[in-house]
Amino acid sequence: MKIRKAVIPVAGLGTRFLPATKTVPKELLPIVDKPTLLYIVEEIVAAGLSEIVLIAGRGKTAIEDFFDTSYELEATLEKAGRLELLKPFHETVKNLTVVSIRQHVALGLGHAVLCAEPAIGREPFAVLLGDEVMIRRPGKPSGIAQLTKIYEETGVSTVAVMPVEESEVNKYGMVKVTERAENLWNVHDVVEKPALGQAPSRFALPGRYVFDASIFEDLRQTKPGRGGEIQLTDAMTSLAKRQGLLATVIDAQRFDAGDKLGYLQANIELGLSHPQIGPALEKYLKERFGGK
Ligand code: G1P
Repeated sequence: MKIRKAVIPVAGLGTRFLPATKTVPKELLPIVDKPTLLYIVEEIVAAGLSEIVLIAGRGKTAIEDFFDTSYELEATLEKAGRLELLKPFHETVKNLTVVSIRQHVALGLGHAVLCAEPAIGREPFAVLLGDEVMIRRPGKPSGIAQLTKIYEETGVSTVAVMPVEESEVNKYGMVKVTERAENLWNVHDVVEKPALGQAPSRFALPGRYVFDASIFEDLRQTKPGRGGEIQLTDAMTSLAKRQGLLATVIDAQRFDAGDKLGYLQANIELGLSHPQIGPALEKYLKERFGGK
């Protein structure tokens, strides 16, 4: 079955970027000249998906507005003959349906995904966490497209994994796996942010998932776990035991834009490859660091 819909949870408070995120949702903070969210949307569109389900919280209406027409701005740009400034954005979203659902209480990522059920129904779907930016490598499918392809071939829910350092396992959902084929693993267990030394492997979840709709059943059964939250990872363990769950390492340039350092790294790297400012930024960095 073809994947058509993608869920993006955007209800988080963005506390790591306060006070910037006091009135601006963290998903709209720019990396060079595009909001972080637009990189996620581009990844989804590049995979041929056509519907986005935002799971939003209070104070996030600017995200819905971002997808809407800005009449005043667009009329002004049109009069000035500068509407082409918005052309790439319009191209990206032109065939996209965007649905927004409110998560009224912050009960965790698992609960946020469960909130998407009325918009997803019985079909398989993708989930992309907005903190993680995956930039497509030349000639490669987008990050989420690498998962939808496996799902469409196997009919089994598939998630992205990435190897992390031992010192980082307490920041991620960590998976227990056995190898099934080249770059394809069977997932047996998922542990949310294990203590150092307790991880079942070095494979962490970087926030890209494709799930069978029956995960909603698992989510409904999931009791509050780590931090008192309904954890997506707990529902994934039950899905894995019931139906199977696959994992693959995505080939993309990944940034943890939810972290100050990762956010700055994303700005530098994507700034360096930006056609307008790339050469000037490179010159500046060389001068600043003396080419070392
Ligand atoms: C969430 C998930 C975790 C995953 C991580 C990826 O944690 O709960 O399993 O590995 O995203 O960024 P968070 O970073 O929201 O605490």
